[in-house]
Amino acid sequence: MSYTFLRSTILLVLSSAGLCYGAGVLTVDLLRGATGESVTFTTSVKPPAEPFMALTWIFNRTTNVITSTSADVMGPGYENRIVLDKFTGSLVLRNLTEKDSGQYELIIIPYGAAQIQGTAKLEVLTKVSKPTMACPTENLMEGQTSLNLTCHADGPVSCVWLKDGKPLVPGDRFSFHDGNRVLSISPLNRKDTGEFLCNASNDFSFDMAKCRLKVYWGPDPPRIVQTPNGAELEESVFLSCSADSLPKATFFWTFKHMTMQGPAHYIHEMGYRHLGKYTCMARNPITGLEVSVFHTLRDSSTPITGSVSMMFCTVLTMVALISV
Ligand SMILES: *[C@@H]1O[C@H](CO)[C@@H](O)[C@H](O)[C@H]1NC(C)=O
Ligand SMILES: *[C@@H]1O[C@H](CO)[C@@H](O)[C@H](O)[C@H]1NC(C)=O
Ligand SMILES: *[C@@H]1O[C@H](CO)[C@@H](O)[C@H](O)[C@H]1NC(C)=O
Ligand SMILES: *[C@@H]1O[C@H](CO)[C@@H](O)[C@H](O)[C@H]1NC(C)=O
Repeated sequence: MSYTFLRSTILLVLSSAGLCYGAGVLTVDLLRGATGESVTFTTSVKPPAEPFMALTWIFNRTTNVITSTSADVMGPGYENRIVLDKFTGSLVLRNLTEKDSGQYELIIIPYGAAQIQGTAKLEVLTKVSKPTMACPTENLMEGQTSLNLTCHADGPVSCVWLKDGKPLVPGDRFSFHDGNRVLSISPLNRKDTGEFLCNASNDFSFDMAKCRLKVYWGPDPPRIVQTPNGAELEESVFLSCSADSLPKATFFWTFKHMTMQGPAHYIHEMGYRHLGKYTCMARNPITGLEVSVFHTLRDSSTPITGSVSMMFCTVLTMVALISV
């Protein structure tokens, strides 16, 4: 029996029986599948004692997928790709391609009973291929005017950016370009240290690319602590300097043309020659920024004339700016 003949017969029988389309025996009316994978059109048909007289699956109203009577006739391109359950009409369609998207219609003609019919739509989508992102290899520094992260993804995808798991919203420093594929950060801030993730998705699947950024910063203005606070002559005095910085700052002191390396300066026995202005310089080895602060060491047994407490005056001077 030819497919065309069978289909005309079926349609004839259907129309003469006055059956209407619509309700159908397929359990879902919309299926989604990924290219290369498979879908199953499942029916709610109760398996009869013996196979049906005829059973046919039609694609997009015109193409024979399979017509099963005493023999099976498969449409071109469906061989080795389908498995038909002749008792329920359920159909497995394998190795999906986007061309399989469309409408599927099942018609069953039982022996001496009413026709059974069902339709379902199939949407075959291509999975998002793994996006890539080129992570910056150069040292990133706070204040840097702009940094762009680009999410390279194939096909029509929508991109969403996250930082440490939280969605990024456009704002003062973050902006999105090229259909959200480019994240622009301007200027860079120490808070940008962390993991940036781009989530590329279509209706069907998603995949992600990430970059871990480390933004170097500082030094912040140094602090000098003198111990003890009010030191007198012949006592020992300890001056220490600290500054927040990434990476850790290096320090040196200058006092009367002398330079002392390190964050701490120790005076075993304070004499007149030790009194005066000490400058601590903090330097970030990566950003190249240098910041200094000075401190005046006094003999606290000598009263200070005519001034408010000048004893621990610490004056900040930002010495150098960024070295590129
Ligand atoms: C079709 O799918 C089967 C598994 O479902 C797989 O083994 C086979 O390689 C696929 N063939 C093609 C041509 O993709
Ligand atoms: C099947 O029909 C759908 C619309 O229902 C159409 O988008 C699709 O291109 C058709 N597929 C083929 C292979 O004709
Ligand atoms: C980043 O992208 C923005 C917008 O496309 C552009 O104006 C800016 O120059 C880019 N910055 C860099 C460092 O490439
Ligand atoms: C990525 O996007 C998809 C689709 O919107 C969503 O289901 C998924 O949870 C997202 N993943 C992350 C880590 O945000």
